[in-house]
Amino acid sequence: MEARLMADRYAVIGHPIGHSKSPHIHAAFAAQTGQDLRYDAVLGELEGFEAQVARLAQEGLRGINVTLPFKERALALADRATPRARAAGAANTLAVTDDGVLADNTDGVGLLRDLTRRQGQQLAGARILVLGAGGAVRGILGPLLAAQPACLHVHNRTPERASALLAGYATHPQAALLAALDVAQLELQSPYDLVINGTSASLSGGALALPAGIFRRAGAACDLAYRPEGSTPFLEQARAAGVVRLADGLGMLVEQAAESFLLWRGVRPDTDPVMRELRPSGPA
Ligand code: ATR
Repeated sequence: MEARLMADRYAVIGHPIGHSKSPHIHAAFAAQTGQDLRYDAVLGELEGFEAQVARLAQEGLRGINVTLPFKERALALADRATPRARAAGAANTLAVTDDGVLADNTDGVGLLRDLTRRQGQQLAGARILVLGAGGAVRGILGPLLAAQPACLHVHNRTPERASALLAGYATHPQAALLAALDVAQLELQSPYDLVINGTSASLSGGALALPAGIFRRAGAACDLAYRPEGSTPFLEQARAAGVVRLADGLGMLVEQAAESFLLWRGVRPDTDPVMRELRPSGPA
């Protein structure tokens, strides 16, 4: 009986975790929708992540957001997974259910909602270039393909990684839209309607060694990462090259959180007030 009187508990787990905005975002969603819940940030144990999640579930947590570097391990430890989590090869959301732990991935749908609803980006028929070939990119290719772009090109500093990533999509119904391009091919293929940075370069604060010409007449640039000051080296490079429509990853962060909240609570929060609060000055 006593447990019913306590707020349902959730957490985000990552390493590091100190600067996570997720507790704040979910507290705002809870207040807005009148949901009684508690959401904490938990420092993940690099060695014992799986046992730590089991412990948290046993303690009664109803859901866990997972961030770097645990997303692949979160998928592996789950009893069940949604198709989008399996396609991404990673989970950012765990739901503790009577049937065990369910793994989901809301990153891709979060990006799409931010691009289409907040940025007004047309994806159907668009020429899209994605930079990077790590976990972040793997999570967004499926959702971007589903939006029916004209093409979805991937370029990575280490070309073999991009080829290996795309090999996993060989049987995808929209596989023909995908191509891994080297620097010379990029020169021929630009302009793009949208250039997305999915490398981890912005997190380390470093400028990207970008192939010349990728921003030539580009319609928009989007960085999956964000920095508190509102811009990233990638976005500054795009701006310097004349790209006017710029967006960082804050909107994606808030949208993926809303999708997790929807999965856990069955209510979709309004993300606009939370975005306005996190970035009163408007888009990056
Ligand atoms: P994540 O899961 O965040 O994607 P990851 O799997 O380590 O992390 O992948 C990082 C990606 O960022 C890779 O595509 C990496 O390129 P390489 O495969 O060539 O290593 C890319 N990356 C990181 N720093 C970069 C930089 N300074 N310039 C270009 N690409 C960079």
